[in-house]
Amino acid sequence: MSGSNSPSNVGDVDGRVEAACRAIESDAKVPAFVFSHRDVWELELERIFGRSWVFVGHASEIPEPGDYRLRYIGTDPYIFVRDEGGTIRVLFNSCRHRGTEVCRSEKGNTSHFRCPYHGWTFSNDGSLTGVPFKETFREDCFDLEEEDVDLFEPPQVDSYAGFYFACLDAGTDPFDEWIGDFEWYLDVNFDIATDGWEVVGDPHRYELDTNWKLGAENFAGDTYHHPSTHHSVLTEAYGFGQEESLHETFSGGMSRLVACEGKHGADFITGPPDELLDFPADVIDASGLDDEQRAFLEVAQKFVGNLFPNFSFLTMDATRNGEEFRSAMSVRKWRPIGPNTTEIWNWILVPTGVSDEYREEAYRAMHATFSPSGNFEPDDYAVWRSIPDAAESITARKHDLETYRNNFQHLGMIDDAEYADRLNESEWPGEVDAAPSSDMAGHTVYSGWAEMMSGSGSRGRPEEADER
Ligand code: FES
Ligand SMILES: [Fe+2]
Repeated sequence: MSGSNSPSNVGDVDGRVEAACRAIESDAKVPAFVFSHRDVWELELERIFGRSWVFVGHASEIPEPGDYRLRYIGTDPYIFVRDEGGTIRVLFNSCRHRGTEVCRSEKGNTSHFRCPYHGWTFSNDGSLTGVPFKETFREDCFDLEEEDVDLFEPPQVDSYAGFYFACLDAGTDPFDEWIGDFEWYLDVNFDIATDGWEVVGDPHRYELDTNWKLGAENFAGDTYHHPSTHHSVLTEAYGFGQEESLHETFSGGMSRLVACEGKHGADFITGPPDELLDFPADVIDASGLDDEQRAFLEVAQKFVGNLFPNFSFLTMDATRNGEEFRSAMSVRKWRPIGPNTTEIWNWILVPTGVSDEYREEAYRAMHATFSPSGNFEPDDYAVWRSIPDAAESITARKHDLETYRNNFQHLGMIDDAEYADRLNESEWPGEVDAAPSSDMAGHTVYSGWAEMMSGSGSRGRPEEADER
């Protein structure tokens, strides 16, 4: 156990969580104990990861019937699999006999999953197909014909642009309502590839001693940290701030922050019109977007966002080959495997149909920037990992340490003469802020957290939830 700020039972922490929800909603302060308390993490597993739409995997990872990957929803093990008929399924990786995991390898191709304990066998659509020595079962034993002993499936599974999400609660709003207004921004980022997106290689997977919310918050919108946390790489590797300070560069109206549905956030960097980032034109088609979205896309240089709770994305020009940039997308999952331990999953994607050379260069470039060995990411780790340490300190307890989220209640949009004529932000959904220090977008992780943890969550059909 990595430290506990109060007696370790959920009943005790419930009152503190309720108070934290009120503090988050009323004055944007986040009590520090939510970054380190074991009981909070256990409540999050139940109330957030047990009721939210959680990313499972991308269709391109399992292109053929029988392809599968092991995945997790919170800490629950699932199999992301394409069945013999081509349908993508999410199956609970637990035998209906005694609960043993039926699939023990990270990825592969199989028509059936055979439990290693007593040999019950399930088709890759989850249905029980074989029970050894079934004919010797006593007559008054449980009736396999009558009982439903197929592998469990989440009550809700949905996909967007090939990305599959699952929700363990039947009472949560359907996926399209869950993403709500945020779809407008997701479309600008994801709905531009003619034949969709392709995951390159296997996702990176690594553990960091920090709390999952900190990664999600950073991706939801933290332009504020760029000049400070990433000072060395921005100045030395990218040449920013050579003629003016980094703070001047970042306060020049380049960034936009958006918040939608009280729980999803994004920030993006704008610049001179640079169509569709720099993906090859022959694999890009933005005709499905409306005029406002296309105007937005024309000046977008980098997208970063978080779909609550823990699905993040980052699209950027990651490197150049001669005069041509190589754009790529990183998709993240901040998996909470402990109060102070996050397993980070990092998928790198390119539009389907790029050349082998482009795919290779884009992958290497994303690897060299946003991965454990990249030149940006270790900067973030260094600052994120010390926050839970402070949160569980004696000093924090004595001071009832609260952490601050700034500005967004006060600042509106700032003038951006160069691009204002291209962007009609008033038409954009959700809330928009252009102040580089604004925490408006990042705070969506906590407003979403408060909504789910206080029990008022996005659960449009509570009567169905009660039937579980
Ligand atoms: S636990 Fe799976 S067959 Fe017994
Ligand atoms: Fe960062």
